[in-house]
Amino acid sequence: MIKKVAVIGSGTMGHGIAQLFAAAHCPVTIYDLRAELLTKARRMIIQNLEVMKKESYINSDEQKATLEMLSYSTDLSEAVHDADLIIEAIPEVLEFKLQLFKLLEPMISSTAIVASNTSTFPITKLAEECPFSERLLITHFFNPAHLVKLVEVVKHEHTLPWAVEEVSHLLKAAGKKVVILNKDIPGFIANRLQAAVVREAFYLLEEGIADADDIDKVMSEGPGMRWALNGPLRIADMGGLDIWEKVTGNLFPELDCSTEAPRFIVESVKQGNLGSKTGKGIYEYSGTGEGNLDIRDKQLIHLLKM
Ligand SMILES: NC(=O)c1ccc[n+]([C@@H]2O[C@H](COP(=O)([O-])OP(=O)(O)OC[C@H]3O[C@@H](n4cnc5c(N)ncnc54)[C@H](O)[C@@H]3O)[C@@H](O)[C@H]2O)c1
Repeated sequence: MIKKVAVIGSGTMGHGIAQLFAAAHCPVTIYDLRAELLTKARRMIIQNLEVMKKESYINSDEQKATLEMLSYSTDLSEAVHDADLIIEAIPEVLEFKLQLFKLLEPMISSTAIVASNTSTFPITKLAEECPFSERLLITHFFNPAHLVKLVEVVKHEHTLPWAVEEVSHLLKAAGKKVVILNKDIPGFIANRLQAAVVREAFYLLEEGIADADDIDKVMSEGPGMRWALNGPLRIADMGGLDIWEKVTGNLFPELDCSTEAPRFIVESVKQGNLGSKTGKGIYEYSGTGEGNLDIRDKQLIHLLKM
């Protein structure tokens, strides 16, 4: 049974994942490379909880109890030595992740489960040289991890079934909807679906078909509204497969099929415009974006309440 969790990397994903388990009464230690990163993570968690309380999604006792379940460390061994589940949320660089697994090996218990929050690497790649590969799996959370329900769980041929069961059990107890993939595939399910839409959205933007706001509006007021309730396959059934035969057959040859990151994204990143966290991306934001995250979280809480 998983009684203690360690989260490695306290950035966009790590702090939210830690908060989630802490809210489910599980003690969590968050590790990062430097103390100031942990201070930022703590501030983000306090802010997240404050928004949740203001929106009456949690009460003061729950807010306090969550904070009490969290500890912070810049000592990796101290953070992981007694953890039953270790979740890595460090940057999406394969060498970093493989290096981390080797570092962890002598520090963790022989029954500890290690989960990667990778967005893109297949589990087989991560497991190749991993010293505890039979206890390695992927738990793919979505940003913001403390609010978005879905977690994709990916195993490989040799992942021990009890490890998958234990992690799924804990995730469900923390209120998550768990989907376990039958087969390993890069990007899993959600990011493949998202990437297909994002590729076309940037194509439409670059072609000047509409401005960013209108492209986003088309999604959130149209397909997005339906997708919050039903997936694309059920929607195809509802519309009639004869219609979808025409839609897909006529439109697929017209769709963008580029195999590189969109030019717009590449140029923005070069200029340091990374989105709300730097104040500019596709849109412009006031400040460095933490206030924008509050608005996003409020909207998601309203959706969750529905
Ligand atoms: N951001 C998203 O929307 C999102 C969604 C799902 C999955 N992911 C995945 O989650 C992982 C983390 O992404 P993120 O957006 O939170 O990144 P991030 O850059 O916000 O945070 C990464 C954190 O890891 C720390 N770190 C760097 N190297 C480390 C090391 N060797 N050991 C320990 N800590 C280290 C950094 O200091 C930083 O605080 C990536 O694999 C990413 O693909 C991200």
